[in-house]
Amino acid sequence: MKTNRILWTVASMMMAAAMVLTACGPAATEPPAATEAPMTEAPETEAPMEEITLRVFAGNVGQELELTKEAAGRYMVLHPEVNVEVVDTPDFVEDRLGVYLQLFEAQSPEGDVFQIDVIWPGDLAEHFVDLNEYGAADVAGDHFPAIIENNTVDGKLVGIPWFTDAGLLYYRTDLLEKYGYNAAPATWAELEEMARTIQEGERADGNEDFWGYVWQGNAYEGLTCDALEWVDSSGGGTIVSPEKLITVNNDAAIAAVEMAASWVGDISPDGVTGFGEEDARGVWQAGNAAFMRNWPYAYSLGQADDSVIKDKFDVSPLPAGDAGHGSATLGGWQLAVSRYSEHPAEAADLALFMASYDEQKARAIEGSFNPTVMSLYQDEDVLAATPFFGSLYDVFINAVARPSTATAPQYADTSRIFYNGVHSVLTGEVDAMTAFEEMELDLQDLLGYDVGQP
Ligand code: GLC
Repeated sequence: MKTNRILWTVASMMMAAAMVLTACGPAATEPPAATEAPMTEAPETEAPMEEITLRVFAGNVGQELELTKEAAGRYMVLHPEVNVEVVDTPDFVEDRLGVYLQLFEAQSPEGDVFQIDVIWPGDLAEHFVDLNEYGAADVAGDHFPAIIENNTVDGKLVGIPWFTDAGLLYYRTDLLEKYGYNAAPATWAELEEMARTIQEGERADGNEDFWGYVWQGNAYEGLTCDALEWVDSSGGGTIVSPEKLITVNNDAAIAAVEMAASWVGDISPDGVTGFGEEDARGVWQAGNAAFMRNWPYAYSLGQADDSVIKDKFDVSPLPAGDAGHGSATLGGWQLAVSRYSEHPAEAADLALFMASYDEQKARAIEGSFNPTVMSLYQDEDVLAATPFFGSLYDVFINAVARPSTATAPQYADTSRIFYNGVHSVLTGEVDAMTAFEEMELDLQDLLGYDVGQP
């Protein structure tokens, strides 16, 4: 990054010098004949190149920010007339959304490119340009069609897909072997049993800080993702169905969340109800957990040279519940261009560059961020760095979506009702039956939809 900045500075100094020369040159030798060639019609090549600044509002979970800055650096080398600033935003998506909304409500030109969550196109469409009008139509076909569809609101492409995400189960291969297990758990019940056995054994061996299973239990969007996985794999549906029925309150969903509540203080630390992605990864990467639920980004960090769990773990699909299958929540991020940007065309060019094959490839290899460009799943370098992109391909393409389309533009509030309700069950504040009844009522008030069965 530093090198890139220096390159950029040198380039801009050279440009400034060139501008001075062109400005002086003709004036000294060849004064323009005003009658024949007015100044305003001077050939474009002689016009000074105007330098612009583009601001990218980006995430900072794991290596995200660092990799985004590297991409910005590469763009600046190619486009010395553009200065790209990468702005760090809060980890939790609702906090990040709050920052964005403040800018949008003020119609502020301060941000040009925004990293937006897969759940936001419906809620935020009005604030972004249609990228199809800026060249995205030519490359949209390279990306997963379902994500392009998700990002298309009333015919307008609100964001170019950047990376996709799906919930995964991380497990310690060395510890499974030590305790005589030959495969990752296939069901939640198996996970519970294995986690308990390994936890008891590791503690007896002297590691008092060891836990069976860590995940995302704070009251935030990440809990909506985890809870959707418990609920959907148990046959409890997706909170609100694609047909716009409120299906949240059902026996399978209640039982699934009760199951997770029983883990707290048993195979999972009490503090898990305050955990986000990075908190879970902290415990896991210190070597203090047998299992972790997280997104793919945690893979490359676990495999880093200085990681104590390097080569001691693998990833598998999340366990199955009563529905007979596991469920991975679909996550992922897109790049959108603000309608209030002063440079929408340049910002769109930057967004398309960042989402291009080469840039997604770099992020996949360095940060295990899943590409949205389909052909990268056949790229040998990508598969060598992250073999599970190939072996778990089905998990990625069959991930279960949160009900953001069915509830737009009120997904954020829908999710808040759900994660707060689930959180109150995890902490033991409210019994599950009451919490689910309340969620159903609150969703009816919010959305005005009918209640139905999943
Ligand atoms: C990841 C996912 C995103 C999700 C978030 C929840 O960043 O990609 O879709 O909303 O986690 O914490």
